[in-house]
Amino acid sequence: MCGIVGYIGQQNAADIILNGLRKLEYRGYDSAGISTCENGQLHTARAKGKLVNLETQLKATPLNGSLGIGHTRWATHGKPSTDNAHPHRAGSFVVVHNGIIENHLELKQQLQEAGHTFKSETDSEIIAHLIEERHKQGATFVDAVREATHILAGAFAIVVISDKYPDQMIATKSGSPLVVGQGEHENFVASDIPAMLSHTREMIFLHDGEMVVCTRTGLNFIDFAGNSIEKSSKTITWSPLMAEKGGYRHFMLKEIHEQPRAIADTIAGRINKNKDSVVLAGSGIDPEGIKNVERIYIIACGTSWHAALVGKCLLEKYIRIPVEVDIASEFRYRNPLVTDKTLTILISQSGETADTLAALRETHDKGGKVLAICNVVESSIARDSDGVIYTHAGPEIGVASTKAFTTQLVALFMFTLYAGELRDSVDRQTRSDLIAELLTLPRKLEETLELDPLIEDAAKAYIHAHDFLYIGRGNQFPIALEGALKLKEISYIHAEGYPAGEMKHGPIALIDENMPVVCIAPYNHVFGKIVSNMEEVRTRGGQLITITDSILPSLEDNSNALFRVPTIHDDLMPLITTIPLQLLAYHIAVFKGTDVDQPRNLAKSVTVE
Ligand code: AGP
Repeated sequence: MCGIVGYIGQQNAADIILNGLRKLEYRGYDSAGISTCENGQLHTARAKGKLVNLETQLKATPLNGSLGIGHTRWATHGKPSTDNAHPHRAGSFVVVHNGIIENHLELKQQLQEAGHTFKSETDSEIIAHLIEERHKQGATFVDAVREATHILAGAFAIVVISDKYPDQMIATKSGSPLVVGQGEHENFVASDIPAMLSHTREMIFLHDGEMVVCTRTGLNFIDFAGNSIEKSSKTITWSPLMAEKGGYRHFMLKEIHEQPRAIADTIAGRINKNKDSVVLAGSGIDPEGIKNVERIYIIACGTSWHAALVGKCLLEKYIRIPVEVDIASEFRYRNPLVTDKTLTILISQSGETADTLAALRETHDKGGKVLAICNVVESSIARDSDGVIYTHAGPEIGVASTKAFTTQLVALFMFTLYAGELRDSVDRQTRSDLIAELLTLPRKLEETLELDPLIEDAAKAYIHAHDFLYIGRGNQFPIALEGALKLKEISYIHAEGYPAGEMKHGPIALIDENMPVVCIAPYNHVFGKIVSNMEEVRTRGGQLITITDSILPSLEDNSNALFRVPTIHDDLMPLITTIPLQLLAYHIAVFKGTDVDQPRNLAKSVTVE
């Protein structure tokens, strides 16, 4: 997610903004820029890479003026570069933007036909041109911004300044965060509280569809219809460190709760108007190659490998060709069978995992094609693959992967529908039904997250356990593996994920009153089988923790703890059932006092073998 800071007041805007952007660095970014207005002139400095590069520029050529906006960019459309860095300018207007403009391609074409020329590959630049166009047609500054944002589809948080209006800074949002900081003879806007906390604790939270016109002496709030609205400020008592985590105790918990937004952002712009087709424009995928593929490998490590296992269930169900899943460190050394009709899908949050990158080389050396599912634009794996589907989870700071995992599952789900359409193996009605289910996911994840306090309360009973067993069937077996990995990597309690049907083949010997068994039991075609496995656990005195959408009363009676989740199409149920397991691992680890965000011995990205 990008970082935004705007300032209007009596001080040097560039200094205030640079310091504010530093407070947002934790969000991750790949370029940055600042624009200020001095004596009716706009000046801009932008730099690829870290803020220190921008700072070097500013030392050489300071930006003066007491009005300015700044931005740290997390690339989604267009590679990290100076030209793609914000702020973006069109005529007398400069803009910073956080979010994804879904209809940017059609708007860009309309603007080009109206004579506008573009300097960047970004979706954001069109906003500056839209405002300039409206202003050219006679709209006031406020109306130009209001009318321009009216036609944007997708999520945005925008701050605009102009050399024609040196006493105004306008901000507005829909779907991306924006906070107003109220000062004495100065006002601030930012994507997040930490950027302003050293100047003011009086914050006003903009809601979707609201705008604010900031001057040096006041704030005027209006709605998208242009009506004035009243807003009240909140006094923020957080410490700066707490503020970086949005008030959450750890980045991991913040990222668990960001999943509805991350998934909505990953879906955004990839479903057609009729909602019966997945659109992967710009992914670089060769449709002919997908039509003719005869074998698919899905290769990854850790949590991403668990996503790969879910992907296998989806692709084999709907594409009906062999899909093999391999751990990257195994794939690269087993001389795999690869031809020019082989597609290797690589899943990697960081895009830098050494073994997964090696699998890319192995596939290319043998003449195969590679499709990456990555969260970091222009990462090594993304850059060297033949096609890439970016997850739009935003930076994932916690070492334990959460929102990256669920957005990987969404990307695999959408790719399955995309490939099924190309290969005529998924008809339009099926695609339409599945897309309809997909679009309910953010809301159902919000509902699932409401279990958080219940899970925190239940977690206390398990912090002294030495071993956990997680069991699931079908597409829930990977979720059993993922739940076990979450627990072991942050609480240091040993945990194993197992196919539930394997219980009689060994694991049942482990069951006793000291063994918590997490059973993932969605109400699907194997529900009866998993209920039998639960009884096997109960009759041997095991402590049963059940995750289910079933309303069967006996489940409650037979479980030490039961977490009921919303129902969704079985193909999407893994995205729901994984949430309670993330929360269970998190709360057990917190009670145990481990370093949840930076667990011992682990790194966020394993860039060596
Ligand atoms: C999962 O919580 C871990 N952080 C780890 O297993 C991770 O999924 C694995 O290292 C793969 O990382 P990648 O997705 O960046 O390639």
